[in-house]
Amino acid sequence: MSDEGLSEVFAFAQTQIMSRSIRACTFLDKGGTGKTTTAAHLGVALAERGKDVLLVDLAGKQGDLVKHFGRWAAVEDQIAAEDDWPNISTVFQDQWDAIAEKLGEAAVEDLILDTEEGVDLIPAHPGLDSLDAELGNVDDAQDRYSRFDAFLDEYIEPLGYDAILIDLPGLTNNVSYNGLWAARNVIVPVEMGPFESEQAEALRADLDKIATNFDVDVDLAMVLPNKVDSRTKLAEEYLDAFAEAYPDAVAPAHVPVSQDIRNAADRGQTAFALDEPSTTAERAREAFLENADALLERLDAEPAAPVGGERA
Ligand SMILES: Nc1ncnc2c1ncn2[C@@H]1O[C@H](COP(=O)(O)OP(=O)(O)OP(=O)(O)O)[C@@H](O)[C@H]1O
Ligand SMILES: [Mg+2]
Repeated sequence: MSDEGLSEVFAFAQTQIMSRSIRACTFLDKGGTGKTTTAAHLGVALAERGKDVLLVDLAGKQGDLVKHFGRWAAVEDQIAAEDDWPNISTVFQDQWDAIAEKLGEAAVEDLILDTEEGVDLIPAHPGLDSLDAELGNVDDAQDRYSRFDAFLDEYIEPLGYDAILIDLPGLTNNVSYNGLWAARNVIVPVEMGPFESEQAEALRADLDKIATNFDVDVDLAMVLPNKVDSRTKLAEEYLDAFAEAYPDAVAPAHVPVSQDIRNAADRGQTAFALDEPSTTAERAREAFLENADALLERLDAEPAAPVGGERA
């Protein structure tokens, strides 16, 4: 065999052994439980552990995730200047492959921003607004729900990220289904309350439905108690209840309620960027780091456990 032929064989073999990114999305069919906060903080925690991380905001045009990293103004400027194409909504379109071929590597590079906290990020875009309806017009269900997965496989995996975290809207629609399908692993931030445990139960049933209808398993990778006020007795009871209901999926560390997290977000930072974190912010950081380690351990342990049952 010629040298050239050999190097082609080696290149091919390399792509076969190059490990895929771990993927997860933050999701619960409810607003405000901490999906975006969790995606941002787990992302930075993974980066602190030396991982190359890409965050993707599919959660809607308000751009909450990019706001966490102080890059929203730049994104808004681009949108105002109509210098916002292609964007995250473009990659779902029928013409995406043709667009990507025409633009070459820049097509994907232009989608990705870097941040000061060591993670890369694909921001949201107003085009996400009409995306649910547009996907609804795609006749074939497999095609309708797997477009984002196909995009990650073909265009993002070659970039070699260790982890891809996707932030989803707090409702079940064609966009969140695309996120769940692409990630195959879901992280569910829950607040302490009976309503949340019902939502998490409904999610488990939903994941079962996806598995049966479309022949893909989406694993409940982590149920993450958030905004826990450990001074209250009730919070303790809910923590126990979640631990009992999800013995293998529950996160090893809960995240305390911390005004610092809220303030940092308003300033375009995560709690990791604070020079003088409060006690609660410090505890939140430690919790996210511990949960990031658990996530790596759980997602590296292939194959994933089937939905419905508990994690292996
Ligand atoms: N541990 C925490 N301590 C204090 N505030 C928090 C904590 N986690 C999240 N928050 C705050 O709660 C609000 C909702 O959080 P976040 O935006 O992450 O929720 P979400 O589930 O993404 O909401 P949505 O459904 O609107 O996308 C934000 O103001 C956020 O700063
Ligand atoms: Mg959100």
